[in-house]
Amino acid sequence: MKHEKIETHAGLLVILTMIVISIGGLVEIVPLFYVKDTIEEVKVNGIETIHPYTPLQLAGRDIYQREGCYLCHSQMIRPFRDEKLRYGHYSLAAESQYDHPFQWGSKRTGPDLARVGHKYSNEWHVQHLTAPRSVVKESIMPDYPWLIKTDLKYNDIDEHMRALRKTGVPYSITEKEYEANVKRFGKDIADELDINKADDNLLKEAEDNNYDGIPGRVTEMDALVAYLQVLGTMVDFSKFEDGHFAKYR
Ligand code: HEC
Repeated sequence: MKHEKIETHAGLLVILTMIVISIGGLVEIVPLFYVKDTIEEVKVNGIETIHPYTPLQLAGRDIYQREGCYLCHSQMIRPFRDEKLRYGHYSLAAESQYDHPFQWGSKRTGPDLARVGHKYSNEWHVQHLTAPRSVVKESIMPDYPWLIKTDLKYNDIDEHMRALRKTGVPYSITEKEYEANVKRFGKDIADELDINKADDNLLKEAEDNNYDGIPGRVTEMDALVAYLQVLGTMVDFSKFEDGHFAKYR
């Protein structure tokens, strides 16, 4: 009889359903914040190989978001055989631990990009982003011809890193934080994560790699290609036994 009361009152049913779902959600989600294995440990010789983006890559990620690339591209390889065959090892939680917001997505008008880094040359990306159909004839991806023509605006990159630091991304400001990063990621990476050197680091990376093929100029294309080329490259799976990461699932 009592159950009939619930089933015949839509409002009551909704409220009670929400209470039940909340309890279920709490029981499933809260422990994940405390279980150490939620995010895999990815270390080679004691050094963490997954690290936050360099200033140039970070600027590229902003352009990726500004242009809405995520509307057609996901960045998460699911642990299914077909996905592994097409894209490579399934994505680890650790690989997007510094992404705010993450770019997982579920809309795949284009292919998943989680491991697109080093798949193509810089020249290919420049050509493809400027005019996709000039390299993939049947592509329906839009042209982004302004990326190579627009100088990268990076005068606020340090503030951007500061904001991410507040969310827990280990960019360093103090000497102590820098030293901690040297222990965690090695000196070269720790230098890249130093907010005090953000502008210099950004310029140097753009000049050294010349992603856009135009020397002496830092364009939005430099940043976006730098970002695409690092995606999925921070874990060297050949250094881990097959199935090593399965225990975290
Ligand atoms: C309207 C949907 C759409 C949007 C928006 C879009 N793409 Fe694509 N993208 C595609 C499709 C479809 C393909 C597959 C054909 C091709 O290679 O052009 C593709 C392919 C790619 C590839 C090659 C992937 C591979 O593994 O071969 C890259 C890299 C890429 N896109 C990057 C981007 C970036 C960066 C942006 C934003 C600036 C973007 N895309 C925006 C649809 C889109």
